[in-house]
Amino acid sequence: MKADLKQRLVYGTYRIPLGYSEFFRILEACYRQGILWLDTSPIYNAGLSEIWIRHALQNPRLKFKVATKIGKFYNTNGRLEVNLDPDRLLTAIKESQGNLGNEKLDLVFLHNYDGKTSADDLAKTLEGLLRKNGPATFGTSNFPIRIWKFLAKRGLIGCIQRAYGEAKQVEEEALLAQRLGIDCWLYRPFYKGELIKAGGNPKELLVRAAKRYPQSKIIFGASRETQVKQLLGL
Ligand SMILES: NC(=O)c1ccc[n+]([C@@H]2O[C@H](COP(=O)([O-])OP(=O)(O)OC[C@H]3O[C@@H](n4cnc5c(N)ncnc54)[C@H](OP(=O)(O)O)[C@@H]3O)[C@@H](O)[C@H]2O)c1
Repeated sequence: MKADLKQRLVYGTYRIPLGYSEFFRILEACYRQGILWLDTSPIYNAGLSEIWIRHALQNPRLKFKVATKIGKFYNTNGRLEVNLDPDRLLTAIKESQGNLGNEKLDLVFLHNYDGKTSADDLAKTLEGLLRKNGPATFGTSNFPIRIWKFLAKRGLIGCIQRAYGEAKQVEEEALLAQRLGIDCWLYRPFYKGELIKAGGNPKELLVRAAKRYPQSKIIFGASRETQVKQLLGL
């Protein structure tokens, strides 16, 4: 895989290895190969993904930037809930700052749209959070186009995240993001590993995804060191 393709890969931490030492070796391999970003969330592995990232980045050799997510959490019934209330989001930012040990988070995505908050209200929420020592950049994940377009045009988000796929709509969103001058990150190039189990070659699938969307980053997961080495051609 060429170096410019590797620089457009993001290592996602939804699935992590059983032990921290293997996780650290995966991050070392990714960093050596030119990967610059990690993607995480406090709901991945009950916070362990963020905490392991903090431990790993205490090693000065690993200079990753980290993107995390807010607004989606497990409620007291153990169900996933989306809440874009400004106070709830501020609390979530503080929690991730604590987990990641980082005063100024690099990039924070609103994890999902709640189906009801207006674009205007979201703009006010983001303006307020940016004033209160928010992250360097906000992004939206899985939001309707009309909402993220509105926020992008006001300079309130610098990135969108959506599921990878080859449908025309994915291409349209990637191109729209490019036109508006923001980044587009596409997640799950292996469809949670299903495409590999069905006989797909992992490295070829990753290269295909990166080439299909030359203006986007691709967030991939791999829960074993051997998988990462195979993907990056080590
Ligand atoms: N914004 C959002 O709402 C959202 C939603 C989902 C995901 N994401 C992000 O996208 C990232 C990637 O998603 P994902 O991990 O669910 O899906 P994925 O990247 O499509 O698939 C990852 C899985 O593929 C398998 N795999 C990878 N390399 C392999 C290899 N060389 N050989 C065999 N199997 C291999 C592994 O399965 P096994 O673990 O079973 O071995 C791995 O866990 C996440 O970590 C997360 O950061 C974001």
